[in-house]
Amino acid sequence: MTYVISQPCVDLKDRACVDECPVDCIYEGKRMLYIHPDECVDCGACEPVCPVEAIFYEDDVPEEWKDYYTANVGFFETLGSPGGAAKMGEIDLDHPIVAALEPQEHDH
Ligand code: F3S
Ligand code: F3S
Repeated sequence: MTYVISQPCVDLKDRACVDECPVDCIYEGKRMLYIHPDECVDCGACEPVCPVEAIFYEDDVPEEWKDYYTANVGFFETLGSPGGAAKMGEIDLDHPIVAALEPQEHDH
């Protein structure tokens, strides 16, 4: 099981979650961040710190954002398991469902 980052992260990338993750498994794409489904240890530390509540346990992802499970898992299809996000920096990639979104407006 894993946690999943969903649409509110797109074009915001607050990154508060990154500092909380004990296993450094939250990777930065171009428009959002993605949790590695095999590296995540389900500690849940990231979930409460996201200011826009973009992070959910996989069974709790709201219906409208269910595709983000696929987006998080699929993001790593070509990357495999890098074993740490910090050394990767921003990855010049997004899952196709994220890349296809219109620019997302944020109040802050
Ligand atoms: Fe995104 Fe929230 Fe993390 S906006 S980068 S999931 S703190
Ligand atoms: Fe890290 Fe969040 Fe998983 S803090 S271990 S990505 S539940």
